[in-house]
Amino acid sequence: MPHRVMVAVMEIAIPVLGTLELASLPIPGGDAEPLTRAFPLRRRLRDGTPVRLRMMDARDRERLRAGFEHLSPASRYRRFFTPVPRLTEGMLRRLVATDERDHVAIGAEMGGPRLGRRDGLGVARFIRSKENPAEAELAVAVIDDMQGRGLGGLLVQALCWAARRRGIERFQAIVLPENDEMRSLVGVIDPEARVRLEDGLRIYDMSVPDVALNEIGTGYRRGAVDRLSDAGELVVSGVRDLLQRIRLR
Ligand SMILES: CC(C)(COP(=O)(O)OP(=O)(O)OC[C@H]1O[C@@H](n2cnc3c(N)ncnc32)[C@H](O)[C@@H]1OP(=O)(O)O)[C@@H](O)C(=O)NCCC(=O)NCCS
Repeated sequence: MPHRVMVAVMEIAIPVLGTLELASLPIPGGDAEPLTRAFPLRRRLRDGTPVRLRMMDARDRERLRAGFEHLSPASRYRRFFTPVPRLTEGMLRRLVATDERDHVAIGAEMGGPRLGRRDGLGVARFIRSKENPAEAELAVAVIDDMQGRGLGGLLVQALCWAARRRGIERFQAIVLPENDEMRSLVGVIDPEARVRLEDGLRIYDMSVPDVALNEIGTGYRRGAVDRLSDAGELVVSGVRDLLQRIRLR
């Protein structure tokens, strides 16, 4: 069967088969592994909603722009630390300038038997540090209607999988102090994460867990967040310097 046809058949068959995951099926094309652009990783959220995760690139520009429209002003502020009424051309260009190595973005879209256009539900990304190639900056956003269902956790677990396979051992994330949801996600990645305060922003430093592909979307460890400590917070000034260092914006 031609490769193209087989992919189309699987697109329809997998949702129909219900709980079967792509990871457990033979992948057309031989050695290709899921969670690329062509072969999404299929999972269900806590409420059963089917989603597909895959690598994003410049072809996702319009999808990203459309997804941004579904972020509330509060979510935009939490992601970009400034009111962002719309994504500028420059921001869009930077956000889709992925290379699957040093800048990786994993996007989520609705799963199930939907052919054609799929709306973006959320994105988790990292950009490798120029100074230390074993470190990267992490950022994540989920559209407001889909928050609180485990999608953020799913995305960051998938990102950890991708990061470790690219030699990244530590993530840094810059987070507003009132952002409890992101604090929870930091706990999902590393319950022992360190945090310091710079100009009122929390800078988390996490060890990236070695997540196996079949562990992504499993093992909700309730209570992990409670162990996150705020000890060792350090206040330094120069918010402009800090924001200039934020490459994910
Ligand atoms: C932060 C954000 C991405 C979270 O997304 P989300 O889809 O709502 O997150 P989840 O539903 O996966 O996580 C919510 C809860 O599930 C838990 N959870 C999710 N995956 C988990 C896992 N694998 N193991 C344990 N717990 C998990 C979280 O700890 C959290 O627990 P809580 O109920 O105690 O809060 C979302 O709120 C958002 O987009 N905010 C705006 C942008 C932003 O703030 N970005 C951060 C700056 S980079």
